[in-house]
Amino acid sequence: MTRHDVPGHVAIVMDGNGRWAEKRRLSRTLGHQAGLRALRRTAEHGARLGIHTLTVFAFSSENWNRPATEVKRLMELFMGALDKEVKGMHEHGVRVRFIGDPSAFQPELQERMRAAEDLTAGNTRTQLNVAANYGGRWDILQAVRRLAGAARRGEIEPDRIDEETFGGQLALCGTPDPDLFIRTGGEYRISNFLLWQCAYTEFYFSERLWPDFNAEELDRAIDSYRKRERRFGLTGAQVRERANA
Ligand code: IPE
Ligand code: IPE
Ligand code: MG
Repeated sequence: MTRHDVPGHVAIVMDGNGRWAEKRRLSRTLGHQAGLRALRRTAEHGARLGIHTLTVFAFSSENWNRPATEVKRLMELFMGALDKEVKGMHEHGVRVRFIGDPSAFQPELQERMRAAEDLTAGNTRTQLNVAANYGGRWDILQAVRRLAGAARRGEIEPDRIDEETFGGQLALCGTPDPDLFIRTGGEYRISNFLLWQCAYTEFYFSERLWPDFNAEELDRAIDSYRKRERRFGLTGAQVRERANA
């Protein structure tokens, strides 16, 4: 068995807010509010464990198709969260980044997102990437469009486009790929999250609904991760040989 350290980058699909609320006969909005508290808890515990980067799926490109009132409440919640949480995160040395297409959000929200990124840009202790209006396919397509444009202008040779050049155009450029992907809510799918970046990520699925996610459940996910052997196409013997070298 190859033991790993704590994963440097954890990606989370925070799923199950709606079901959590419905089970309690509460509005879905209250489920999303409880989800925000779970995010705060998880980010704090992750930082204590030494997880440097956390990338969370907050709103997908497909979530716009939800009922208009739910979308509206979610936007209000994001706005409120930016007002309330950013200062504290900055004091804790968290760098905040948004990945996704911001252009669909209202100008005030876009402005607050930019302000949070600017305020925390110099922080290095931990990084929180929030995927908002994000889709893995959108991310790949916007990279393709930019590279195709550069090729048309003669700035790059199409034959020279490799994984590094391509990855450099993606929303998470400059951040190593996630080591561990966690999805809560008992669903076993990627739902258009980091499609390119999860090529060799370890997956962990939790039955817990996201508002019930806590330090203990994060510890369980990390424990599972640490027991795995990441082979990246090699044989187990090769991996163990290299680990002992
Ligand atoms: C995840 O929880 C949060 C968002 C997608 C915004 P859901 O709202 O998808 O919760 P369920 O899956 O309906 O329980
Ligand atoms: C994925 O959850 C997106 C977020 C957690 C923001 P969904 O609830 O939208 O995913 P599906 O629809 O169950 O695949
Ligand atoms: Mg869901």
